[in-house]
Amino acid sequence: MQAINKELVRKRFQRSLNTYDNEATVQKRMALSLINFLTTNAGNKFDKILEIGCGTGNLTRQTIQNLDHKELIVNDIVEETEKYVQNLSSKIFFIPGDAENIDLPTNLDLIISNASFQWMADLPEFLKKLHSCLNKDGILAFTSFSPDNFSEISKLTDNKLQSYSLIELIYLVNDYYETVYTHNEMEKLNFNSPLEVLEHVKQIGVNAMAQRFWTKKDLNEFKINYIKYFSNDGKVNLTYCPDYYVLKAK
Ligand SMILES: C[S@@+](CC[C@H](N)C(=O)[O-])C[C@H]1O[C@@H](n2cnc3c(N)ncnc32)[C@H](O)[C@@H]1O
Repeated sequence: MQAINKELVRKRFQRSLNTYDNEATVQKRMALSLINFLTTNAGNKFDKILEIGCGTGNLTRQTIQNLDHKELIVNDIVEETEKYVQNLSSKIFFIPGDAENIDLPTNLDLIISNASFQWMADLPEFLKKLHSCLNKDGILAFTSFSPDNFSEISKLTDNKLQSYSLIELIYLVNDYYETVYTHNEMEKLNFNSPLEVLEHVKQIGVNAMAQRFWTKKDLNEFKINYIKYFSNDGKVNLTYCPDYYVLKAK
C-alpha cells in the first residue's frame, strides 16, 4: 500500500488535462449515475453546493444542469482546472488546493465529488472534516473505487492505493452520517495490449500511483504477465470497480 504523494498527484493530473476527457469514459458514466442516484434518493434542490476534485468539469456540468442551486463552489488540487469550469455558470466560485488541507466553506447543503476521494490520504478523517462543513441533514454524494479497482495492475506491481470497501467506509463514518443510498459496480475495459493499458492510466492521470521508475526488465515482466493472466480473446482487461455513496449528515 502506498502513501499518497500529493505533489505527484497534482502534477500527473495537471499533465493529463488535455487527454482526460477522451479517455475517461468510465468516470463520465459515473458522474451521470451519481447525479441520478442523488436526485432519485435525496431530491434536486440544494442552495449551497461544494464540488471537490472537479477536473475538467464532467460532474460540474451535470450538477449545473440537474440541480436547483444558488451557489456552486468548485475545488481541485490542480489550479489549472479553473479554466475548464469558470465559464460553465455565473454561480461558480473556484477554490484551488488540496481539499484535505485547506479551509473549506461551511453551511453547505450538498458536497459532491466524482472519482476523486480515492486520492485522499486519510479518507475517513476527510469525511469527518466534510461533516463539519455540512448543515444538519446536508448531503454528501460521491463516488470512489473499491479495493478491487485496477486489480490487474495492483497484482503485478506495488501500485495500490489505500482504499475502502463500501461496507468498511460506511462503518467508519457511521457516527457522522446516515446512509441514504449506496451502489457498487464492476466494469471491464478491453485493450489491445498491456502498453495500451499503461497509456490509458497515464491519460487519465492515474499513473500518480507509480512512484518509482520502471526499468526495461520491469516493463517486460509486466507485459508478459499481463498477457499471461489477464487476456481474453486476444485482448487484455482492466477492471473498474466504482462505488457510489449518498449520505446524510447526522
Ligand atoms: C479522476 S479525476 C475526476 C475529475 C472529475 N471529477 C470527473 O468527474 O471527471 C480526479 C480529480 O481529483 C483531483 N484531486 C485529487 N486529489 C485532490 C485533493 N486532495 N484535493 C482536491 N482535488 C484533488 C485531481 O486533480 C483530479 O482533477
